[in-house]
Amino acid sequence: MNIKGKNAIVTGGGRGLGKAVALALAHEGVNVGITGRNEENLRNTVAELQQLGVKSAYAVFSVDQEAAVQKGIAELVSQLGGVEILINNAGIGNMGSLEEMSSDVWEQVIKTNLFGVYYAAKAVYPYMKEKGEGDIVNVASTAGLKGGGNMSAYAASKAAVISLSQSMMAEWRKHNIRVITLTPSTIASDMSITAGLTDGNPERVLQPEDFAEWVRDILKMNRRALIANGSIFSSNP
Ligand SMILES: NC(=O)c1ccc[n+]([C@@H]2O[C@H](COP(=O)([O-])OP(=O)(O)OC[C@H]3O[C@@H](n4cnc5c(N)ncnc54)[C@H](OP(=O)(O)O)[C@@H]3O)[C@@H](O)[C@H]2O)c1
Repeated sequence: MNIKGKNAIVTGGGRGLGKAVALALAHEGVNVGITGRNEENLRNTVAELQQLGVKSAYAVFSVDQEAAVQKGIAELVSQLGGVEILINNAGIGNMGSLEEMSSDVWEQVIKTNLFGVYYAAKAVYPYMKEKGEGDIVNVASTAGLKGGGNMSAYAASKAAVISLSQSMMAEWRKHNIRVITLTPSTIASDMSITAGLTDGNPERVLQPEDFAEWVRDILKMNRRALIANGSIFSSNP
């Protein structure tokens, strides 16, 4: 399917996986609004996106604040002229043992990764429902399929995102909104390198561009086709 001229919002689009997806969509002629907390990253990325000849804008907010999410998304929709695609990507990956991680950090991971996805989806839903078309890509993780040591908050948040996303799909399909739950394995980014999960070696480990191509291709499927769930792994890390 040709997705040129559609309007996408990518949360956490100023760096990492979100930035790579924003660029891949802009290469297809999609107008892209990006969000995050770091304004400098957002401004620089918008400049790169505009160089590709598409409309682009940014909004600064933290995804764990519902009113700010609603306001920021509404501003982006108005600047782009609509929203047909949401990439629910913003997230944090604090690692630490159950014993050592403070309950404040634990709560922050859940607030950001789970509530952030919920708030952003609720903010775009009225526009998609009214138009009778939409695509929402919720970025979970293989960590959400199975818990593991030193990742209790992160894995629990992503397990909840998988479940939330499946409920969203069940409720919103009838409005021609495709809800796509993705569970990527380790991809080189600030998050995975800081957590010590990979050294980021491009010869061995998935790169943000690989993830972005995958998302782009899923979105280009004919609208009668919905990739409901998917995982991506490095071939031989
Ligand atoms: N990399 C991996 O191995 C991997 C594997 C599976 C799933 N994932 C998931 O992929 C997504 C992107 O991760 P990444 O690897 O690209 O991580 P990253 O490089 O650390 O980037 C995280 C992004 O999320 C944004 N963000 C974080 N907290 C935010 C908040 N409270 N409000 C608004 N934006 C916030 C950041 O923007 P600002 O800095 O501007 O706030 C940044 O753009 C996450 O959901 C992550 O869990 C990653």
